[in-house]
Amino acid sequence: MAGAVTLLLLLVGLAGLSEGQGLVPAGFIIFGDSVVDVGNNNNRLTPVKANFPPYGRDFIDHTPTGRFCNGKLATDFAVENLGFASYPPAYLSEQATGKNLLSGANFASGASGYLESTSILYNVIPLNQQLRNYKDYRSKVERIAGRMNATALFTGSIYVVTTGTSDYVQNYLINPLLQKAYTPDQFADLLVQKFRTFVQALYKLGARRIGVTSLPPLGCLPAAITLFGGGSDDCVARLNDDAAVFNKKLNAAGRALKKSHPRLKLVVLDIYSPLLDLIRHPENNGFSETRQACCGTGTIEASVLCNAAWPWTCANATGYVFWDSFHTTEAANQVLADALLTQAIHLIS
Ligand SMILES: *[C@@H]1O[C@H](CO)[C@@H](O)[C@H](O)[C@H]1NC(C)=O
Ligand SMILES: *[C@@H]1O[C@H](CO)[C@@H](O)[C@H](O)[C@H]1NC(C)=O
Repeated sequence: MAGAVTLLLLLVGLAGLSEGQGLVPAGFIIFGDSVVDVGNNNNRLTPVKANFPPYGRDFIDHTPTGRFCNGKLATDFAVENLGFASYPPAYLSEQATGKNLLSGANFASGASGYLESTSILYNVIPLNQQLRNYKDYRSKVERIAGRMNATALFTGSIYVVTTGTSDYVQNYLINPLLQKAYTPDQFADLLVQKFRTFVQALYKLGARRIGVTSLPPLGCLPAAITLFGGGSDDCVARLNDDAAVFNKKLNAAGRALKKSHPRLKLVVLDIYSPLLDLIRHPENNGFSETRQACCGTGTIEASVLCNAAWPWTCANATGYVFWDSFHTTEAANQVLADALLTQAIHLIS
């Protein structure tokens, strides 16, 4: 599969080249939550962190970095597959200096959401602050590389936006007041409005290639089954429905944005179907465990609760879809990255 995607990208890239366009993006600018965070929460006073074992145990040098995974994230695989030698650094890390900034940067913060209130609950970095950090990044890059080179990087980069899960699982679904104020449909509208505003702000700053991921099947996250499944081990249908409602509205908003911004390449990357497919038919991709996560008891632990003190953490995460109760394993991320890259081809060509 990886080989097929690479070949496809190569063909598309060559077609692009003949029209005078680049073969690869200039860089990656990443916003969002723990699905794409590579360490921006490490020095914050928040329980939502992953810079300690067993996180990172299958990563390069077996080092925890702040990635909420045993190894690589789907975005890490995507960046590799497009030929980059290094990953965009966490903007708030020591690595984010000098020429390390010249192929992009990562602004994502675990447990942040489209809503500012979601981030405030966990003292993490809200999307609007991520955007301010991105503006700060731009000034730095202009100083380092000159204005013209910087502009080429900003317009030629792929922008990734991955958020929304925490707005549901860590905010709406546990907050009766919020549920009273908004039906699931209205709540989805609220989030999609924030998405629209965010994309418009990025566009104004020169972003032209934006990939936004849909929500995953929320009801299949191990923590969601434990908390909302009423004792059943099946995916929680109500939560998957909520995600599907949001995704439909996100797709409609994406189409409208493209219509009103003809020079914008925007793709809503469907992560819902490939992940649900992995959960429903694990054996097709060499997986065996879909309900239980590798870390701890596999039913509820994530972040600080997934730590080296647990004797039960699985020895080998390869057959598991979920690493902790919210996050997929490196093995699952590789499968998801292939699916997402196939969909993202329009951003590269
Ligand atoms: C812009 O990039 C080119 C190619 O890397 C480099 O030679 C040049 O010095 C850069 N411009 C500035 C102002 O740094
Ligand atoms: C985990 O299992 C897979 C497949 O059986 C194997 O290829 C891999 O080397 C194992 N990893 C570790 C860390 O033992």
